[in-house]
Amino acid sequence: MVAHEVLCLRRRTTVATDVAEFAAPLVARGWRVHEVHDAQGVRQVLARHAVAVGLLWCPTLDDDSLARLQVCLAQAPELEWVGAFDAGTVEQAGVCEWVLACFFDHLRHPADPEELDRTLRHALARARLRQRSVGVPHLVDEQGMVGQSPAMQQLRQQLRKVASTDAPVLLGGESGSGKELAARAIHNGSRRALQPFVAVNCGAIAPTLIQSELFGHERGAFTGATTAKPGLIEAAHHGTIFLDEIGDLPLDLQATLLRFLQEHTIQRLGSTRSIDVDVRVLAATHVDLGQAVSAGRFREDLFYRLNVLPVVVPSLRDRCVDIPLLAEHVLRRCSAADPLRRIDGFTQQAMTALMVHPWPGNVRELCNRVQRALVMTDARLVTPEDLGLQAPEEAPGPGLDAARTQAERDLIAVTLGRLHSNVSQAARELGVSRMTLYRLMDKHGLSGRMPPLRPRSR
Ligand SMILES: Nc1ncnc2c1ncn2[C@@H]1O[C@H](COP(=O)(O)OP(=O)(O)OP(=O)(O)O)[C@@H](O)[C@H]1O
Ligand SMILES: [Mg+2]
Repeated sequence: MVAHEVLCLRRRTTVATDVAEFAAPLVARGWRVHEVHDAQGVRQVLARHAVAVGLLWCPTLDDDSLARLQVCLAQAPELEWVGAFDAGTVEQAGVCEWVLACFFDHLRHPADPEELDRTLRHALARARLRQRSVGVPHLVDEQGMVGQSPAMQQLRQQLRKVASTDAPVLLGGESGSGKELAARAIHNGSRRALQPFVAVNCGAIAPTLIQSELFGHERGAFTGATTAKPGLIEAAHHGTIFLDEIGDLPLDLQATLLRFLQEHTIQRLGSTRSIDVDVRVLAATHVDLGQAVSAGRFREDLFYRLNVLPVVVPSLRDRCVDIPLLAEHVLRRCSAADPLRRIDGFTQQAMTALMVHPWPGNVRELCNRVQRALVMTDARLVTPEDLGLQAPEEAPGPGLDAARTQAERDLIAVTLGRLHSNVSQAARELGVSRMTLYRLMDKHGLSGRMPPLRPRSR
């Protein structure tokens, strides 16, 4: 049975019976309950899960808690909310208007589990209907990954497959493309999900410290080692260690790491005792490790040991149909953090500018540009200037044919952007069949690969 997801917002409590009272009957009826207590919790769940209904479980309300809860609900205006209140609460000043404006329905506390289940299902059906009518596909998967492009679908499939084994994975991909996110997705999808995930940036630790950081040390192993300390590999026992920028690991440590990969044991610095550790290794690099091997900067045996399951995270320019989804996702996440500012979206020019930018910094650059735009803009719609991007040319390029081609590509890019890459709806609006639209997207490099930057006349 696939569980329906519900965000449950309620006051923090230490009373165990209270938890059993509301969550257990819902779980028994097939709901996956994400319990949160504040605005930050709401944002975190929304960023990671495809939740469409919210339950506010707050029998009584005073002015202070009402104000705080209003901020919480403002983080998730697209959810259908159901409230459970004591008799009289809804009649309080301020509460009545709020419930009428922001809730799908409300029930008397303590709510009958059957009635609550039924009401939440109605709310879910309505949320789905609303999503269909505005054509917004689920933005975020359960791993917090956004993207519907063929490249992302293939990546998700690969991540699912490698998650089911225990072999090392080598994640390649450009800087900012999402390698760490992919590593977390592998861990979360593996049998080790409830155990630690320890991420180490090998490039950020001084070469003199990295051995003791990874493998730990005994007391007196070096000057200043006043106590024994387990290393990060030991800290990840039963879980996963993610070695980021593995290409930066000094050669002598590469040999030590290889031994650990082969024997599943480590020795702390200053000790001759071997300690058994059960840790899965995921590694990432943005450099070509094969080349580093040829140049003698990386051990060949370690390379083969790590490269058992290679996974390449696609760069953003290789999946440009995801750009509108990502931009909307970041916009929504950031504006949720500041409910007093209302930003509705992007101008058509901004969307086109996003589509034609080459994204050397990948998703991280996109996140930064959208965040910056939200700070810079004074309007409801983000412009290319707010994003620090050049506005796309209004004037067509040389020659009528070239101008027609450019106009066709721009119109398709903007329509796809506005409709969150919903191809069926875009085809309807553009008056062509889906097949034709796919063919045109292919022709203009909009289905996966980024189109070449259009020449700009100054
Ligand atoms: N598919 C995605 N959906 C949503 N957010 C993403 C996606 N890919 C990357 N991000 C976000 O982009 C940022 C960069 O991702 P991440 O740190 O995983 O990249 P990286 O490849 O490890 O970068 P670097 O090479 O610089 O270490 C993070 O904030 C991450 O959450
Ligand atoms: Mg990284």
